[in-house]
Amino acid sequence: MAENIRRTLTDSPQRWLSPKWFYDDLGSVLFDAITRVPEYYPTARERAILLARADEIVVASGADTLVELGSGTSDKTRLLLDAFTARGQLRRFCPLDVSATTLATAAEAIGAEHPGLDVQPVVGDFLHDLHRIPTGGRRLVVFLGGTIGNLTPDEQARFLRRVADALVPGDSLLLGTDLVKDTARLLTAYDDPVGVTAAFNRNILAVLNRELGADFDLRAWRHEARWDAAGERIEMHLVAREAQSVRIPGARLDLKLDEGESIQTEISSKFRIERLPSLLGPAGFSVDSVWCDPDGDVALTLATRTG
Ligand code: SAH
Ligand code: AVI
Repeated sequence: MAENIRRTLTDSPQRWLSPKWFYDDLGSVLFDAITRVPEYYPTARERAILLARADEIVVASGADTLVELGSGTSDKTRLLLDAFTARGQLRRFCPLDVSATTLATAAEAIGAEHPGLDVQPVVGDFLHDLHRIPTGGRRLVVFLGGTIGNLTPDEQARFLRRVADALVPGDSLLLGTDLVKDTARLLTAYDDPVGVTAAFNRNILAVLNRELGADFDLRAWRHEARWDAAGERIEMHLVAREAQSVRIPGARLDLKLDEGESIQTEISSKFRIERLPSLLGPAGFSVDSVWCDPDGDVALTLATRTG
């Protein structure tokens, strides 16, 4: 963590932080709260698609092993688990997440809800730890919530290639993506009136204070969501309200920041349906089905690892 923070917070011209640092225990709770904010549409929309298509997904995948990357609370995944259970098809469930407490709580609850299911949680980073997912059987990997959008285009391509490499022909991937839409709606989804997203964003500084002994004054930073039209992505920033010095002893770093200077904490790329095959194809997947909610807000794509 120290090396990563040292590198990204000294990057020029834009200081940045990897969004994976958001998700300490409080960060995971704040994300869960975001999913209940009316302006944050992706969770409800994706849930509606899963509700309508879970059985179809289960049958088409033929899977006996479900792997979920960035699983969080695995809340929506329960719709798939229920559909699998109704068919008596599922043997193993492997949720993988960096957030250890949230993962353990979810895995325990799912184990209790599905007796006989072999639940194998993995605390890990989906960019580096794909070799730790179970092998054998017929596998379905799910990556929901539009989390792929939190990766840069290069990272997305590398990540999908690694997922394909971890699978064998006939295994499948279910990928959730948020779609390009009206800019005002997007900005409100990432700057909600209650301020839950602002709290989620600022919490990343509390993580640095605790883990690296930093002395960020959280009140001295303003949450800002920006739309990058060229990159078709939301950017979240923390903007310094005033000039300030910050010490981060754990990363051997002393920062001087100007008033108005920002740290980018997240990108959230939005996709276009017609480009999904060219995202998945080069990685080694063929698209079987793309489902949208009735408003065309988010898409869920089922793809097969090609031979
Ligand atoms: N899949 C859930 C949660 C999305 S929030 C949903 O659709 O609602 C993003 C999740 O990914 C969080 O649980 C976070 O802890 C996890 N995460 C973020 N970066 C990660 C990384 N690099 N490796 C593993 N998990 C990660
Ligand atoms: C997890 N990820 C897909 C969320 C998103 O929408 O990019 C994280 C988030 N950031 C702000 N609100 C939600």
